[in-house]
Amino acid sequence: MITLTVDDTEGMEALGARLAPLLRAGDLVLLNGELGAGKTTLTRGLGAALGARGAVTSPTFVLAREHPTASGVPLVHVDAYRLVTARELDDLDLDYDHAIVVVEWGAGKVDGGSDSWLSIDIRRRAGDAARDDLSGDDLSGDDLAGDDPRDVTITGTGPRGLELEASLQAAE
Ligand SMILES: Nc1ncnc2c1ncn2[C@@H]1O[C@H](COP(=O)(O)OP(=O)(O)OP(=O)(O)O)[C@@H](O)[C@H]1O
Ligand SMILES: [Mg+2]
Repeated sequence: MITLTVDDTEGMEALGARLAPLLRAGDLVLLNGELGAGKTTLTRGLGAALGARGAVTSPTFVLAREHPTASGVPLVHVDAYRLVTARELDDLDLDYDHAIVVVEWGAGKVDGGSDSWLSIDIRRRAGDAARDDLSGDDLSGDDLAGDDPRDVTITGTGPRGLELEASLQAAE
């Protein structure tokens, strides 16, 4: 398990970019964390580093979006927020073998699709919400930009997941 603090939006994009050179076709990355945690931000940094074509955004009306990349291995970006069961994700028939697959809200929903994955959990600090409340009527530009540190936990599952976790640790 890797734990780290990511100070701001650029740092979260940089984490995605650090992951990019380690990933290959067949790899699965699950991003977990509340609304606005930074899952898409990390994916955007990952996509940029992979040379992905098309904007990496939260896919609101589509469940999955496939981006061609510079290496030829596509990046498949899934938003499983509205999916309730593993079965529903299964029904998307994602091509796990030929793509790098990143699933937002994937925890507990990918069983059966793969035996290995890297989980990245992103958490806002409890104290930050309270501080936001206190700063209520004198919001500065920085508050509006909303850069706050995130606690990030990275855990590999299965042989390839553990290998990815080790490579990421070595790359720190
Ligand atoms: N340390 C940080 N890491 C990541 N994002 C941050 C950080 N600080 C502030 N932010 C801001 O928080 C927001 C994160 O939004 P993002 O769309 O990435 O979240 P999400 O987890 O994908 O949410 P959703 O579940 O709605 O898809 C962005 O506006 C980003 O600029
Ligand atoms: Mg998102």
